[in-house]
Amino acid sequence: MINLFLFSLLSISSAQPLPRLLTPLNKDPITSLYTILLNSIDPYVIDIAAPFSWRRCPSAPHPTVACFTAECTQAQYLPSPCPLPPISSTTPCKCMVSPRNPITQSCACAQLTYTNITDRGAHIFLKHIFLSCAPNPLFESLPKGAVGLASLSLAPLSLQNQFSDRLPQLSRTFAMCLPSASSRNGAVYFGNASDHSLLSYTPLLTNPKTADYAVGIKGLSVGKHSVIAMSPFEGIRLSTVVPYTTLAADVYARFVERFEEGMMGVPKMKSVPPFTTCYKDSAVGFSRVPRIDLEFDGGKNWTIFGANSMRRVGGDTTCLAFLDGGEKAALKIVIGAFQMEDNLLVFDVDRSRFGFSSSLLSEGMSCSNFNFTK
Ligand SMILES: *[C@@H]1O[C@H](CO)[C@@H](O)[C@H](O)[C@H]1NC(C)=O
Ligand SMILES: *[C@@H]1O[C@H](CO)[C@@H](O)[C@H](O)[C@H]1NC(C)=O
Ligand SMILES: *[C@@H]1O[C@H](CO)[C@@H](O)[C@H](O)[C@H]1NC(C)=O
Repeated sequence: MINLFLFSLLSISSAQPLPRLLTPLNKDPITSLYTILLNSIDPYVIDIAAPFSWRRCPSAPHPTVACFTAECTQAQYLPSPCPLPPISSTTPCKCMVSPRNPITQSCACAQLTYTNITDRGAHIFLKHIFLSCAPNPLFESLPKGAVGLASLSLAPLSLQNQFSDRLPQLSRTFAMCLPSASSRNGAVYFGNASDHSLLSYTPLLTNPKTADYAVGIKGLSVGKHSVIAMSPFEGIRLSTVVPYTTLAADVYARFVERFEEGMMGVPKMKSVPPFTTCYKDSAVGFSRVPRIDLEFDGGKNWTIFGANSMRRVGGDTTCLAFLDGGEKAALKIVIGAFQMEDNLLVFDVDRSRFGFSSSLLSEGMSCSNFNFTK
């Protein structure tokens, strides 16, 4: 271990290429959640909103963190829907945190700990990466075999921020490509991805109360017809644990209306929950599906084509893969994972910007054959 660490330092100081960490990303066929492999063998569910990572702690003793340390404060700096953990009564006081399952919303009370993360292929050894222990009930509804949850948020203890703290040459940036099938790999690529010609950028909006990623759009259109105009400062959020893009009730109603206009003439099918608007699959053909545009300032669009807007549900039925968030939805638009699949997305925290490619499929590529290093 120690040798490996020295080697990684040496290889960097001798003007080698900047360190980069490419981790394979999989889609779980049962839960449709996405996992990355850390240490080459440990699958962690990715969450781009979680304040910190967590994993099942070994039954053997694990390192603990003292109360009132920087990391303990960082793990708790955000308002959390979880109850505050009790102050531990042990001496010295050990840091307790509240990890949360983003699917079931259940909370736990657990010790903050740390671990080493290695990538032998890249000769990278990252020491003292802080995360929380997680008791078994926290794993409910997660993919079988997952050992924990990997935070890729804006929070100080997210993986990319800690990786960059340990290895300053690694920028606080990651590129992500979610695969559309569990039979194919995607990837999370930590560090500076090269500026790909397919990428457009927009500023990240920040909110002191949350660690997730928000961007501003001017409007949302279906088939070039406007559904809603927005202030670019209002913010729409991105989530890897929300399966489908979710729209507030009034936006959803207009959105479906526009979509149905665009699909005029295609036979409808009975709706299949959670979807409301379904069509005869064999009559659709993805080029028939109206394009959906998220319009950014400066004339840039994130365009969503059929592969990211229609979900086949079997029995010659395909459905509009957007959901109604209801009247009480806190946000007008939350971009869900299905709409991000086979799109190259760059979360560049250092430069506070978000990069998006629109579908790689229209360029004859996909997440499984995309070359991040070119
Ligand atoms: C992390 O690596 C160090 C060597 O640098 C080793 O002493 C320590 O036991 C490792 N910690 C864990 C939790 O594996
Ligand atoms: C990342 O790339 C940008 C340009 O694309 C450059 O300005 C920045 O210095 C790079 N950061 C690192 C840590 O290499
Ligand atoms: C962006 O989307 C809008 C609405 O669909 C469309 O009118 C406009 O032409 C698009 N711009 C680009 C550059 O594709």
